Amino acid sequence: MAIRTALVTGTSRPAGLGFAVARELAGQGYHVVLTARDHSTAEPLADRLRRDGHAATALRLDLSDPVSMHEAADHLTQAFGHLDVLVNNASAMPDFQVLSAMEADMDAVRTALEVTVIGPWALTQAMLPLLTAAPAARIVNVSSLSAQQIATGLDLGAALRAPAYSMAKYMLNALTTVLARDLAHTPILVNAVDPGNTATHPERGDDATDRPAAESARDIVRAATLDADGPTGQLFGNGRPVA
Ligand SMILES: NC(=O)c1ccc[n+]([C@@H]2O[C@H](COP(=O)([O-])OP(=O)(O)OC[C@H]3O[C@@H](n4cnc5c(N)ncnc54)[C@H](OP(=O)(O)O)[C@@H]3O)[C@@H](O)[C@H]2O)c1
Repeated sequence: MAIRTALVTGTSRPAGLGFAVARELAGQGYHVVLTARDHSTAEPLADRLRRDGHAATALRLDLSDPVSMHEAADHLTQAFGHLDVLVNNASAMPDFQVLSAMEADMDAVRTALEVTVIGPWALTQAMLPLLTAAPAARIVNVSSLSAQQIATGLDLGAALRAPAYSMAKYMLNALTTVLARDLAHTPILVNAVDPGNTATHPERGDDATDRPAAESARDIVRAATLDADGPTGQLFGNGRPVA
């Protein structure tokens, strides 16, 4: 049987969601490719998985650098010839403290769009031959409740908290819908998952009510391992479809 392969972006920190997703996929038997914009941050995490008996590789992949995306695709082509799971987990949140779109810094907006929308879009294009070569690939875009404050007018207690980040996540949800539609004639399913508030930054003092990263990771991996009759173009939150 062919090796099942998964690539996760933004696996640079042991406490991050990317590493929790990589660990969960590795536990399910995938050869996981952990990627980060600085290879030296992903390699120790891949090594941890290997020492636990899993199959894992670390690669440099910067979502603002198309060359690094094609180098990663070339590596996967040589090593495996296909990609079963792509998890677009990385994102940039350059404006957490900003409480209004009127106050948004356009450089922060450009960064957020580059890492959260254009990067995953370009990466999906770069990986498409590998995803198509897999029997039934899955793409998961890691979204956020921040996107829903725009989509639904949900009041999170501010006019538009983190406008660059929130707009980028809103566009990532739209990208999920568009990719799902474009790939509807293939077995590839494309979905988005809002992991909910998750304890991934203990150094910043995560909230006691935040979900453990392993729990949020399971929601993402569920979308990454859907059966053939599973949904596509769907946003999930708390493990359930969001209207
Ligand atoms: N934690 C939560 O409560 C929560 C809630 C909703 C959604 N999310 C989403 O969950 C995902 C993971 O977040 P997290 O909480 O685990 O935080 P995180 O570890 O800080 O995740 C962000 C990752 O993106 C990477 N990144 C930034 N710019 C990049 C670039 N140009 N190229 C490649 N990678 C880049 C970061 O790498 P560096 O370390 O090199 O900067 C980091 O690995 C994100 O999409 C986030 O929006 C999290």
